[in-house]
Amino acid sequence: MSLLRLGVNIDHVATIRNARGADYPDPVRAAELAMAAGADGITAHLREDRRHISDSDIEALAVITRKRGRPLNFEMAVTAEMETIALRHRPHAICLVPERREEVTTEGGLDVAGGHNSITPLVARLAAAGMRISCFVDADPVQIAAAKAAGAQVVELHTGAYCDAVREGSPLAAGLLEKLSASARAAHELGLEVHAGHGIDFETVKPIVAIPEIMELNIGHFMIGEAIFTGLAPVIQRMRALMDEARGV
Ligand code: PXP
Repeated sequence: MSLLRLGVNIDHVATIRNARGADYPDPVRAAELAMAAGADGITAHLREDRRHISDSDIEALAVITRKRGRPLNFEMAVTAEMETIALRHRPHAICLVPERREEVTTEGGLDVAGGHNSITPLVARLAAAGMRISCFVDADPVQIAAAKAAGAQVVELHTGAYCDAVREGSPLAAGLLEKLSASARAAHELGLEVHAGHGIDFETVKPIVAIPEIMELNIGHFMIGEAIFTGLAPVIQRMRALMDEARGV
């Protein structure tokens, strides 16, 4: 397994399935394919409204990732219901994310500082059950310090604003990348493992991976969309190749 890991988020295979209320395409089959094509792990977000991934998907993903010895990264909101599900399946990793029902996607990082009173005991309970806990945060030193104080082992930096800026040709992109870089350094100095995700594509992956503290990327929407044209395995292999090029592997 390479030092820089690629987690493939298969949520949007379920989005397509659910658009027809059918039982295909199957996100579990996508996870099998992704692992065979070189994904280091599988990421899935069980949203409170179950708009894409379902409870039975999580159950099946927990089984197949365990069988293949690959980590399942379970993204979840800070709720009692999600805690119960996490404790039932005990995935390798948990990523705590904010959730608002009306949002199209996870629009910003978790307010760890503001939610300290509920997040800290939750992190303790999940970590005691053997799961590695990450907080999905904006590139903000206050939130990174709060994640450390809450007992998280990992922060996943929200790369959405940077990726949007690149896609729009915005002059803000360079500054946003610098913020990500400074945040990764700060998190690393606090002893946190640093991950990154949201909105990453073939163009933005290399500048992000050039930030040396980043150990894992979680990528979904772009790769699932691109797979429509080229197939999932070639997309994963190209993303992996770009990651390796950026790291000089
Ligand atoms: N990481 C986290 C914590 C997320 O919530 C998401 C979106 O579900 C991703 C990574 C993947 O983002 P994208 O689908 O835009 O690649």
